[in-house]
Amino acid sequence: MYSEINFDNIDINAAPPAEEPARQYYYMAKCRELVREFELKNARRPTAFTQTFGCQMNARDSEKLSGILRSAGFAEADSEEADFVIYNTCTVRDNANQRVFGRLGVLNGYKKKNPQMKVALCGCMMQEDLVIRKLQKSYSFVDLVFGTHNLYKFAELLYRCYTEKGMLVDIWKDTDKIVEDLPVERKYPFKSGVNIMFGCNNFCSYCIVPYVRGRERSRAPEEILREIRTLAADGVKEVMLLGQNVNSYGKEPKGTEFMTFPELLREVEKVEGIERIRFMTSHPKDLSDELIQVMKESKKICRHLHLPLQSGSTRILERMNRRYTKDSYLALAEKIRREIPDISLTTDIIVGFPGETEEDAEDTIDVIRKVQFDNAFTFVYSRRTGTPAAVMEQVPEDKVRENFDRILACVQETARERVKRFEGQTLPVLVEEINEQDASFVTGRLSNNTVVHFAGDGSLIGRIVDVKLKRCEGFYYIGELMS
Ligand code: 5AD
Ligand code: SF4
Repeated sequence: MYSEINFDNIDINAAPPAEEPARQYYYMAKCRELVREFELKNARRPTAFTQTFGCQMNARDSEKLSGILRSAGFAEADSEEADFVIYNTCTVRDNANQRVFGRLGVLNGYKKKNPQMKVALCGCMMQEDLVIRKLQKSYSFVDLVFGTHNLYKFAELLYRCYTEKGMLVDIWKDTDKIVEDLPVERKYPFKSGVNIMFGCNNFCSYCIVPYVRGRERSRAPEEILREIRTLAADGVKEVMLLGQNVNSYGKEPKGTEFMTFPELLREVEKVEGIERIRFMTSHPKDLSDELIQVMKESKKICRHLHLPLQSGSTRILERMNRRYTKDSYLALAEKIRREIPDISLTTDIIVGFPGETEEDAEDTIDVIRKVQFDNAFTFVYSRRTGTPAAVMEQVPEDKVRENFDRILACVQETARERVKRFEGQTLPVLVEEINEQDASFVTGRLSNNTVVHFAGDGSLIGRIVDVKLKRCEGFYYIGELMS
């Protein structure tokens, strides 16, 4: 494991090792030499800042980037006015791309003030040819660009970025490789994401993820369990198992004899010290009875299921290539609720998919009313170049707006009612942080993922405590500490 690595024992004058991750540790050692030179010249260590856009997968990847930067000797910066800034980007919707381009302008300003500064970009957005061309044409101040498949090579790229001239671009089209045991710097000491699989094979017609994250491949169960045991020994109480579609865990790569997702959950349950288990994301088409059973019997799996609906219209679901219908989704939600009555269901909804009519939006509203989600993330459809839906006839913007407003109003109304059902009860809360608005409060989460704010101090962070849920305020609770 990386924690046992002594960088002084690595011979940086020898040729780089061919095998991974030894090769990356060699480059971390070489970067440490560059950092020492920087220190001699500037009487301080270089600082680094990692900015994440997008989903939980990216957040986990960023912890790996930060871990590598720390091992390479960089000090952590608390703003983007740093010596090394890396953006881990998202491209699921176009506004994510626009935000990155907007902020790059600001970085260019910082770079003019600090000519030693280096700017790096990685993540999903970098897997798009159009983006790379735009960067090369108009953003030549960017020093390093890499994608999702070669993130494990970051130490090597970092070294090359400091020793070569011009913009270094290294994008791979795909990979079947999973490199384990690189340094990680966790954002929270008490909870952690754990990748169980990478990529996606579903090709929903609106979605760019299968193109930028590549084909589905699962990590070996023994690697996952080893990581979780190490995390538990390091004080982690809550793990979030991450994958684009965790319900198809173990099916790819072919020829491997991995366990199913419910079997994996049973094994994770056995890890001592882990008190809460979450997972993201479940595709409704692959959610098995076995999973419901395992959740029902479990003491540790949280009472929360994120089950993206995308649309309540069977006609639109078919065009989206989702492979379920309005009725089968409703039946699944009902079955889950019947088996696990205290569960919270949350979802994702896309409004304005090509061909969506008012009637289709009504179907979505009907599902929201029937299922009673605790929360729903509602997105305006974003046209992504290269996906099948991009060439379908688009819905006019004003129509999309109208449907969006109606759907959002329905989500808010039903969720407000639904979330409130625990008012007055005392339930365990994992305390995550000092409240952002009021420092005499802390913020944590119920097992069902609902946020709770209550009076308390930093000593509670990372503990699971009993909190009386006094007042529900829409999507969250104000509570009172009981234990
Ligand atoms: N436009 C809008 N929303 C999208 N999502 C994925 N692709 C698009 C798109 N092109 C949403 C889906 C998915 C969530 C992560 O992002 O709802 O579940
Ligand atoms: Fe995109 Fe569908 Fe894969 Fe989710 S399951 S990442 S929405 S293609």
